[in-house]
Amino acid sequence: MAEREFWEDHHARRRLLYPTEEVVRFLAYAFPEEARRRGRRALDLGAGSGRHTVLLSRWGFEAYALDYALQAARNARAFLAEEGLRGYAACGAMGRLPFRDGVFDVVLPWESIFYGEEAAVAEAVAEVRRVLAPGGRCFTNLRSPEDSHVEESEPVAGRTYLSRGEWEGLPFTVFDEPAARELFAAAGFEIEWFDRYFISRRNQTAREAGWTLLLRKK
Ligand SMILES: C[S@@+](CC[C@H](N)C(=O)[O-])C[C@H]1O[C@@H](n2cnc3c(N)ncnc32)[C@H](O)[C@@H]1O
Repeated sequence: MAEREFWEDHHARRRLLYPTEEVVRFLAYAFPEEARRRGRRALDLGAGSGRHTVLLSRWGFEAYALDYALQAARNARAFLAEEGLRGYAACGAMGRLPFRDGVFDVVLPWESIFYGEEAAVAEAVAEVRRVLAPGGRCFTNLRSPEDSHVEESEPVAGRTYLSRGEWEGLPFTVFDEPAARELFAAAGFEIEWFDRYFISRRNQTAREAGWTLLLRKK
């Protein structure tokens, strides 16, 4: 699959080392220090370098990294080992998670769940819900139509675009606010936080725009 090959190559060349501030803020809010006891199970979904798997493990979670790029799973495993932390890293796809129902307290698909066509995103959302325990939380982000990747891409169908340039060939789906809310509400999530982000990049020639969502399985 071309998309997976794109990520294999990407992860062979690049490695993000530090967690994103949004994820740190979410974990600090949802799991204050006294709540970070061992044994809570967390899935870093579309884990990439494993930078958030490392954070989860450091903060006392039983941490799992899953990514469909083998190179990403390898990087995440090596990162945990370098840091002397425990955790698991495996290769697998968001649309069909290799886990039983209800086994995770937290699922963290950061910068990953919107890659793919709209139906694939909805499938991944349903899978996230399936593997969460009742009351379990998901913290994630979606891109909105204001994101400048949209202008640099080709429309495919509905809300889905095909990237051009640096991210050539990668399909992604964008959601305006009602569509973003509906995606998760229809799948059986309660929306605990719904925030907008807008970051200018490359000397204001590019924009990252979207939503950060904290969700609870009903
Ligand atoms: C932009 S990176 C984000 C990585 C990481 N979450 C982070 O914040 O650094 C997106 C990741 O999602 C993974 N990915 C994309 N589609 C996937 C799918 N269908 N199943 C599993 N992983 C996927 C890619 O391989 C890539 O590692």
